[in-house]
Amino acid sequence: MKAALEAIEKKAFEELEQSTDLKALDAVRVKYLGKKGELTAILKQMGKLSAEERPVIGQLANQIRAQIEEKLEESKTNLESKLLDERLKTETLDVTLPGNKQVIGKKHPITTVLDEIKEIFIGMGFEIAQGPEVELDYYNFEALNIPKDHPARDTQDTFYINDNVVLRTQTSPVQIHAMENKKPPIRIIAPGRVYRSDALDATHSPLFHQMEGLVVDKNITMSDLKGTLEVFVKRLYGEDSVVRFRPHHFPFTEPSAELDVMCFNCHGEGCRLCKGEGWIEILGCGMVHPKVLANCGIDPEEYSGFAFGMGVERVVMRRYNIDDLRMFYENDVRFLNQF
Ligand code: DAH
Repeated sequence: MKAALEAIEKKAFEELEQSTDLKALDAVRVKYLGKKGELTAILKQMGKLSAEERPVIGQLANQIRAQIEEKLEESKTNLESKLLDERLKTETLDVTLPGNKQVIGKKHPITTVLDEIKEIFIGMGFEIAQGPEVELDYYNFEALNIPKDHPARDTQDTFYINDNVVLRTQTSPVQIHAMENKKPPIRIIAPGRVYRSDALDATHSPLFHQMEGLVVDKNITMSDLKGTLEVFVKRLYGEDSVVRFRPHHFPFTEPSAELDVMCFNCHGEGCRLCKGEGWIEILGCGMVHPKVLANCGIDPEEYSGFAFGMGVERVVMRRYNIDDLRMFYENDVRFLNQF
């Protein structure tokens, strides 16, 4: 039996040496060590041995099994590294070939300009505030001093969800949320989408963007408003920009004004860009109406504030010389790739 075991070891080693692929190696393993393998078959006959012989043969058999297993592992490792070497030799990699160009997305021009505007106000100590786009009539109109029969409602064609719920027509309702949620001093801007039931054409869209601003504190005056907005315009359009404030009317501010910047194309002469006016309207603004402060539980005797609101699309259109608003919403990559 000892001779048989030694013969198995020799044969197994020879066959392992000759195996040239992993499949052949595994066949050797099955042939000798498998359940029906030759070594296993011998071990099954151990019962026939005498009590003295059994431990000797048993030990030898285990030794041989361990050696075959070790040799098997070794052959496997050698073979694998040989196969890898061969593969690396045949596969060549031309590092001079141009790579695959990754097309990366870009910011939408509205986002780019909004980010820039936000940065300017953040630099002056403003925080970003948000409000819902589906808004209660109370926040969009009532609290802003625009009661049910107020003519100002006609100028903002409103999408009504029901009698009390609208798609916000302006970002001004965020003023109310801000004042309800926070005690003065308040210094916020609120960029966002607004909705009006206008037909889509080159200058109108049922969805567009506005940015609201609100400052409330003790002793806020019209000169704070003028100073802040003049700095803003100069940062956005250049230090040499000339601005003017023109009296206007909004229900939620008193007094109210519109801010114009002198046309940067014709410098006040009048041209196509400013439609012959010499000035371009940028935003609406004013001192927060005492009734609006009171609606939010802020005492108008103690506090005052200013507010402003601007359309974002027009700023972007002038910046990039875009003459059709629809371009912004069509998501045509030929358009978007230009920015
Ligand atoms: N909400 C106004 C509009 O959509 C714009 C506006 C004007 C906002 C004056 C203001 C403001 O905060 O003070 O036409």
